[in-house]
Amino acid sequence: MEKNTYFRIRLTTIRPDKVTSFNIYVFIDEKYYLYLKAGDPISDGKIEALHNRDTGASFFVKTSDKELYRAWVKEEMNSDLLTPEQKAKILRESSIAIMEDLFEVADVNQAMDEAKPIIKEFIHFMEFHPDSIHFMLSLSGHDFYTYNHSLDVSIYALGLGGVLGYDKKTLEELGLGSLFHDVGKRNVSLDILCKKGPLDEAEWAQMKMHAAFGLQILNQHPNISDAVKAAAFEHHESWEGNGYPQQLKGQEIHPFARIVALTDTYDAMTTQRSYNKPMSPLDSLTMMKEKLAGRYDPDMLKAMHSVLFKIRAA
Ligand SMILES: [Fe+2]
Ligand SMILES: [Fe+2]
Repeated sequence: MEKNTYFRIRLTTIRPDKVTSFNIYVFIDEKYYLYLKAGDPISDGKIEALHNRDTGASFFVKTSDKELYRAWVKEEMNSDLLTPEQKAKILRESSIAIMEDLFEVADVNQAMDEAKPIIKEFIHFMEFHPDSIHFMLSLSGHDFYTYNHSLDVSIYALGLGGVLGYDKKTLEELGLGSLFHDVGKRNVSLDILCKKGPLDEAEWAQMKMHAAFGLQILNQHPNISDAVKAAAFEHHESWEGNGYPQQLKGQEIHPFARIVALTDTYDAMTTQRSYNKPMSPLDSLTMMKEKLAGRYDPDMLKAMHSVLFKIRAA
């Protein structure tokens, strides 16, 4: 019960030289304890020692202070004292809290509304620091997988959309759609989502339902565009027509879903999961290009190369 009144933050979003405008709590033995009071300075030594112990599960802010936390992050993003690398880190890590909402709050509309300013900040930031995708993605600690996954797919998708020449409005839609592409996993049982090892046939059938569940969930909300819905419903379709759930082919698949299909696989291949070893960016790309080429829009696959080439060069 008490858990719902706090949200998790990464301590890596807090730097010692700047006092916070909100209290920070630690969660120990099922209880929250005040760790740092708003306005109190924190020493370099203390924060460094804690950073080393920050597994992503220990530090919290009260939900009622969410706006203060947001404003604080925004201020950091505009600070002249921080390098693009530091800013990228703060932006990415601070967004993790929103990723949790995506899968945990009952109201998807609310999660969408909360995600919009975050996507805008990403687009704004990437506009001024085109190499920032590299920083943001090199930060992933590969912990709490689903949130990181959704966020990373969204960051890659924005990079890809940028190379494809999408305007700002379209990028915002794309960012939202890719962030929520797996929203249907809310309706898949946790046992299946967290299973270590391969799924059996029945489990796999349920897992595959997440595309249709995603559409169902998004259909319940009036202000969600067809493009965002397509990113959720069609992201497991394949260019050659042997994907699911509708076996759409080529251009029949919405461009957003074609983008997510690519960035989703790329992220899964390069990320450490309980049951597989991560592949290098180069190996993943080569495999997608040679062995899995029929699954993706060839033009987009080329564009993805250019996104990643820029990242690698950064
Ligand atoms: Fe998916
Ligand atoms: Fe996914």
